Amino acid sequence: MTLLFVSASDNAEVWRAELARRLPDLPFRVWPDMGDPADIRYALVWKPPAGLLAGLPNLKAILSLGAGVEPLLNDPTLPDAPLVRMVAEGLTEDMAAYVVLQVLRWQRTLDAYVRQQAEAVWKPLGHRPASEVRVGILGLGVLGEAAARALLPLGFDVLGWSRTRKDIPGIATVHGADGLKELAARSDFLVCLLPLTAETRGILGASLFAALPRGAVVINAARGGHLVEADLLAALGSGHLSGASLDVFAEEPLRAGHPFWTHPKIHVTPHNAGVTHPSRCADHVADAIRRAEAGQPLLHVVDRTRGY
Ligand SMILES: NC(=O)c1ccc[n+]([C@@H]2O[C@H](COP(=O)([O-])OP(=O)(O)OC[C@H]3O[C@@H](n4cnc5c(N)ncnc54)[C@H](OP(=O)(O)O)[C@@H]3O)[C@@H](O)[C@H]2O)c1
Repeated sequence: MTLLFVSASDNAEVWRAELARRLPDLPFRVWPDMGDPADIRYALVWKPPAGLLAGLPNLKAILSLGAGVEPLLNDPTLPDAPLVRMVAEGLTEDMAAYVVLQVLRWQRTLDAYVRQQAEAVWKPLGHRPASEVRVGILGLGVLGEAAARALLPLGFDVLGWSRTRKDIPGIATVHGADGLKELAARSDFLVCLLPLTAETRGILGASLFAALPRGAVVINAARGGHLVEADLLAALGSGHLSGASLDVFAEEPLRAGHPFWTHPKIHVTPHNAGVTHPSRCADHVADAIRRAEAGQPLLHVVDRTRGY
C-alpha cells in the first residue's frame, strides 16, 4: 500500500515522519522518485502535474493536501478514484483564527493605532461594539461554520449563507439567491469561505458589493477566483467599501507591482489563512488510508458533479 507524495509547497520529509508515526508500514515515495507506478495505492497531493495521477493504474484514493480541490478537478485526466479533501482540526482552527483576526483588525482600527504609535500619538478612535457589527459568512461548510462559531462568543452578529438549507444550532443561516440578498444587505463584514465552482466564481463582484452597506469590509480567504479584482478596486475607490483583507489571489504569488500590494485599504497575506500543518493534519490522512484498507467508506469525499 505505497503512498506517493506530490507537492512543491509542502514539506515531504515532515509528512513522511508524521505518517510513519501513524502508519509505520506505509511505504512513502516522493514524486518524481515514484518507482513502479503500479505500486502506488494512495496519492497525497497538492497541485500535481496534470496527467500524473492518470498514470497510476492501482490508485485507490486521491488524498488532497488542501481543503479546496478545484486545481485537481481542473485536470480532465483525473482518475475516478475517490478524491478526499483535507478536513482537519488544525486547518479549521487556523482559518477561524484568521477570520477573527481580520474582523477585529478592522473593527478595532488596529492599523490606525499602529500608525499613531509610530508618531507617539495617544488618541482613542472609538469603535462600534461587536453586538452592533454584522458579519455575513459566504459558505457554511467546515470552515465557514468554524469561523461563525469563533465570532459568536465575541458578540458579533453573525449570519451564514449556504447553497442548501442548513439548520446549525446557534447559528443564523440563509440559503439560495434570496438568502444572499438578505445577507448582503446586513453585512458590515463579508467573509468568503466558499469553494471555487462555476457558480461561485466571481461572486465577490460589483453587484454583490453594491448590495452591501456603505463602509463594509470584504474578507476573502477562499480562492482568488471568487474576486473580481477591478470591481474591488472600484468599490474601494468610490468609498462604498472601506477595506479588504485578502489571503488568496487569482495569480499566486501576487506579482510584484500588483496594485493590491500598496493599496492603503487592502491587507494582503500570502495564502496562509488555513495551513495544512502535518502534525495536526496527518491523523486525517492516516484515517483515510486505514478506512480504505479496511474497505470502509471514506469520509470527506468530493462530489465531482457539485465541484466541492
Ligand atoms: N486561504 C486558505 O488558506 C484556505 C485554506 C483552506 C480552504 N480554503 C478555501 O475554503 C473553501 C471552503 O472550505 P470548506 O472546508 O469550508 O468547504 P466545505 O465544507 O465544502 O463547505 C463549502 C460551503 O460552501 C457552500 N456553497 C458551495 N457552493 C455554494 C453556492 N453556489 N451557493 C452558496 N453556498 C455554496 C456549501 O453549501 P452547502 O452546505 O449547502 O453544500 C458549504 O456550506 C475551500 O474550498 C477552499 O477554497 C482556503
